Amino acid sequence: MKIPDIIIAIDGYSSTGKSTLAKKIARKFSFLYLDSGALYRGVTLFAQEEGLINRISIIDPSLKEALKGLELHFDAEGKLCMGPRCIEQQIRSMEVSSQVSPVAAVPYVREWVDEKLHEFGRRGRIVMDGRDIGTAVFPEAQLKIFMTASEEVRARRRYDELVSKGESPLLEEVVKNLRERDYIDSHRETAPLRRAEDAFELDNSDMSFEEELAWVQGLIQGKFGIL
Ligand code: CDP
Repeated sequence: MKIPDIIIAIDGYSSTGKSTLAKKIARKFSFLYLDSGALYRGVTLFAQEEGLINRISIIDPSLKEALKGLELHFDAEGKLCMGPRCIEQQIRSMEVSSQVSPVAAVPYVREWVDEKLHEFGRRGRIVMDGRDIGTAVFPEAQLKIFMTASEEVRARRRYDELVSKGESPLLEEVVKNLRERDYIDSHRETAPLRRAEDAFELDNSDMSFEEELAWVQGLIQGKFGIL
């Protein structure tokens, strides 16, 4: 069956499992998966390495100019690279998580990332996850999903993920980071995190991944007739 050129936007709070779901859908329908958060994380790592953000997250305005020399792309495995260097592991660290939301609240950073997302997403047939995909980046997306889950469930997921990658975070730190990011992401002036009016809401606090997938596949089948 011919699969139409659709864009699926998956937005929501931190650690709601957006990327796991997005990747699975992309694989199933042979869509391109784009992780917009990875780009904000990549810009944050760049600002840290260039000394353009201080310990209390004050950003040096020269970041705007410096971004002209930043090259971020995804490799064949979907891992983020900065020029020739794979930075997938560094961008998932607590160090980057603790400063990404202030960086992502800067309008010129959002413009820089949006331009990249449109460039990567030119061909259609994409699943993109983030905070503002259905509201600002691709408001024309044919299917929008907004994900939520209880704070407890989200913190535990993120904690387990960090531990499995060899980090040793404190659970309280993880909770604090989720709260801070959700607050900054929902209250910033440019493209704040919110549910698009035409988005389907998915609260997966008490759902298994299989149930979640069945729910989304039901939506996709109902809307586009593809299984
Ligand atoms: O995976 P997780 O939920 O931790 O977040 P992410 O998708 O990796 O995004 C990291 C951060 O990037 C978010 O907390 C936002 O501050 C920012 N972001 C954004 O502002 N807009 C997007 N479309 C995606 C991410």
